[in-house]
Amino acid sequence: MISEFQQQIVKLKKEKNAVIFAHSYQSPEILEIADKKGDSFALSVAAKEVDCETVILCGVRFMADTVKILSPEKNVILPVPQATCPMAEQITPERVLQYKAAHPDAAVVAYINTTTALKAVCDVCVTSSSALKIVRQLEAPEILFIPDKNLGSYIKRQLPEKNIVLWDGYCPVHNGVTPEDCIQIKKQFPDLKILMHPELPGEVLQYGDVIGSTAAIINYAMEHDEDCIIGTEKSISDYLSLQKPQHQYPLLSKRLMCPDMRLTTLLDVYKALTGESGEMIQLDGEQRLRAKRPIDEMIRLG
Ligand code: 13P
Ligand code: SF4
Repeated sequence: MISEFQQQIVKLKKEKNAVIFAHSYQSPEILEIADKKGDSFALSVAAKEVDCETVILCGVRFMADTVKILSPEKNVILPVPQATCPMAEQITPERVLQYKAAHPDAAVVAYINTTTALKAVCDVCVTSSSALKIVRQLEAPEILFIPDKNLGSYIKRQLPEKNIVLWDGYCPVHNGVTPEDCIQIKKQFPDLKILMHPELPGEVLQYGDVIGSTAAIINYAMEHDEDCIIGTEKSISDYLSLQKPQHQYPLLSKRLMCPDMRLTTLLDVYKALTGESGEMIQLDGEQRLRAKRPIDEMIRLG
């Protein structure tokens, strides 16, 4: 049963012909009233298909930009303008262009956690759930993977036949987890599997039993009648604990909290619908078209 305030938001969004998209890291109150919830890949695909006037994107800026890139005719609102992903700007478009000039045969693969300006100079985007499938299909003799060195090296280990060059970026939340965290939690819960996001460093991933996107982690836990250790943002452990109270979902490390993903509240969603706050995403027309190509390619290959 949803609260009165949630019901008010649901009514308002119907009146405004708006839908709510929420990344899996959002709070349970937001996920409960979302029209579409899931990982970055699912939200990108939904952005292409949804029929409405307005999309309220609960997540971080690059996700709202992706919706606007794919559905420019819609109003796309980011309820909290400060909600960004620090990884999205860890390499500049100029640096990518320099690399391309020096390596004309290379394909540049951009993790979806990048700015629109970066996507505009890349060949194909990937998400954590689609990266392996997409990179496997690339035929270029050299592949530059930006910006996440951890996801990039995870893919590189799976595809030793590919010549993958990594950038030195990382998610500050996942990158802070250490092998010591795995050893400690295994002492506490020796029989539990550890479900991990591939943004974790390689030396941590070797302790993982299941490695996948936020959606893959949720799906595994929902489908298995067992307790699991959660190796990604704390919200996933909270969500699972609510969905399956008979089970325990201890967090791999206390550091697994993304401040940006935690900024958006129900009140922000309400205010985005009334127009009191939130940012209406505006993108440069030509840059949007250039950024759309790698995202379309991601959806086609993924
Ligand atoms: P997903 O691709 O699993 O949605 O992950 C996005 C993200 O930002 C994880 O930190
Ligand atoms: Fe970015 Fe990491 Fe937060 Fe995901 S968890 S949004 S990659 S900072």
